[in-house]
Amino acid sequence: MFDRDRRASRLAKVLGLAMSLASFATLAAGSLKSPNDFKTIGDAKARSIALFTEAGKVIQHPRCLNCHPKGDRPTQGEDLHAHTPPVIRGADGHGAIGMQCGTCHQPVNVESSGVPGNVGWHLAPAEMAWQGRSLGQICEQIKDKKRNGGKSLEQIGEHMAKDGLVGWAWMPGGTREPAPGTQDQFGALIGAWIDSGAHCPKT
Ligand code: HEC
Ligand code: HEC
Repeated sequence: MFDRDRRASRLAKVLGLAMSLASFATLAAGSLKSPNDFKTIGDAKARSIALFTEAGKVIQHPRCLNCHPKGDRPTQGEDLHAHTPPVIRGADGHGAIGMQCGTCHQPVNVESSGVPGNVGWHLAPAEMAWQGRSLGQICEQIKDKKRNGGKSLEQIGEHMAKDGLVGWAWMPGGTREPAPGTQDQFGALIGAWIDSGAHCPKT
């Protein structure tokens, strides 16, 4: 009996350690370089591409991709699996009538249920799909007013640096891995990319 208790408490300790390691891994998500790190690249076009490639660590992170899916359904998790329960974009990105995003997604993350949330939580329009596209393709599409919601480059920069749904990616709640760096660092990279001519990677 005593032995079994000791084994149980040893097991609990090991599990506790494993869990704190897991949450450490979540906190220690990647970092981002700053525009200064690219100053040595003399050629503006090459510098611009390098800056966007660095920003791509955020853009192609699951936290962004899950809301910029290919097709009509959001995805979940680090592996971009289909959203459970099944939901669709609906006419305005807020879901089908009777199954709106806001039925489950609150204005903030709810830790007890694990449901992520933000004010205005909804799905990006189909023409802003990023999943299954290369970084170069995403770059071209972000600059294309026909596919980016009619935004100028300046407005795109502002959206990346300040938008609340974008910002959620750095405080996603639960055990989700946050996007690398901070939204300010990401905004600075995108700003420097625009200032250097907003050139896109070939692939
Ligand atoms: C909860 C869903 C959601 C998340 C998470 C999300 N987006 Fe979006 N995104 C949208 C919606 C919806 C739009 C359409 C514009 C709007 O209504 O604000 C959009 C539009 C955009 C646009 C402008 C149009 C374009 O070119 O695609 C950019 C840029 C963008 N998002 C970047 C990001 C980045 C970067 C991240 C991650 C750091 C991210 N988004 C995470 C929902 C999301
Ligand atoms: C019936 C409840 C419900 C509805 C309706 C719903 N969701 Fe979810 N959603 C969830 C739950 C629960 C999770 C968390 C699952 C997990 O992390 O294991 C989730 C997770 C997500 C994620 C994953 C975030 C990430 O990066 O892991 C996205 C994106 C998402 N929902 C978008 C939407 C959008 C957009 C809508 C509306 C079109 C919507 N959801 C409607 C319950 C719902």
